[in-house]
Amino acid sequence: MRIALSTGGGDAPGLNAVIRGAVLAAVHRGWQVAGIRRGYGGLLGDDEIVPLGAKEVRGITHLGGTILGTTNRGDPFRWRQQQPDGTWIDRDRSDEAVAAFRGHGLDVLIAIGGDGSLAIARRLMAKGIPVIGVPKTIDNDVGGTVATFGFDTAVATATEAIDKLHSTAESHERVMVVEVMGRHAGFIALNSGLAGSADVILIPEIPFDLSKVCEKIRNREAEGRHFSIVVVAEGAVPKGGTESYLDSQHRRLGGMGERVAQAIEQATGKETRSLVLGHLQRGGSPTTFDRLLGLRFGAAAVRFIAERKFGMMVALQPPAIVAVPIEQALATPKRVPLDSDSIATARDLGISFGD
Ligand code: F6P
Repeated sequence: MRIALSTGGGDAPGLNAVIRGAVLAAVHRGWQVAGIRRGYGGLLGDDEIVPLGAKEVRGITHLGGTILGTTNRGDPFRWRQQQPDGTWIDRDRSDEAVAAFRGHGLDVLIAIGGDGSLAIARRLMAKGIPVIGVPKTIDNDVGGTVATFGFDTAVATATEAIDKLHSTAESHERVMVVEVMGRHAGFIALNSGLAGSADVILIPEIPFDLSKVCEKIRNREAEGRHFSIVVVAEGAVPKGGTESYLDSQHRRLGGMGERVAQAIEQATGKETRSLVLGHLQRGGSPTTFDRLLGLRFGAAAVRFIAERKFGMMVALQPPAIVAVPIEQALATPKRVPLDSDSIATARDLGISFGD
């Protein structure tokens, strides 16, 4: 058996743990593993295909990033190519990718990625490549699994940042607005905001009303609490308004934190500062939880190959790692359930969602 491993889309802490789990589980069965570098670039002459054995995955569990490299512009079905006149066109190179996969004597693909990369894997499966998916993203928005790896580390990083903001907010009697990642899901904002004792948490699932946000800040002021911490998910939307994009053509979210900060300062007269945590949330060493989840996902992916569960994705359904159809995982992207106990807990603690 020759297994190919690919990491695609934005990186997430724990990718290397998945790679190690999969490689050692394969080596244990006497199977071979090849790493396709830079998404699917290694299949299309944009990078290499490298052999992965016990030596290559030694000492990587705790390392952030991915030893295979990644890209979020590596879709073989829409490969971006620059023309001699400098313009760019998208070309379908999927047949070439499939031919290269076969040419390298590869039997099965473990695709480690978020919804975009898993959708590509599903299309490659339709072209005859047996695939096992591994859900990766700090956003935690992949369906069928209670958690994706990378999410716990991102929440820990954001929580630490919110903790640090408290002291400076309090000494200056300011409002501090922190924008966190998560795309269209509010998991990072909700969990870090709760753990970090934010006063206001704005998430995409609950459109917010700025007057409610300001009311919360004024109420705190009246109680003698002269500072406030506001956590804004990058995908948060005002009631009747739209998302904020840094680049609307490529739908790159960003800027809602600053918009909220300006509006708060204008309405309350309180000195307000904003910051964007950005890619810090994707970097660094994975937490113990993400290391364990990564190792378990990687090893389970290889067990599922042994059981010929192709077209399935490894998923955490505590206490077990189970196989769910990739199709099913993609059909229902995960969002913060409005009836979740985390939302109820935040409301019980007096945290405002701006609604
Ligand atoms: O999906 C992971 C994520 O970090 C999102 O939270 C964020 O919106 C996006 O990727 C940022 O992508 P890029 O790395 O292209 O800036």
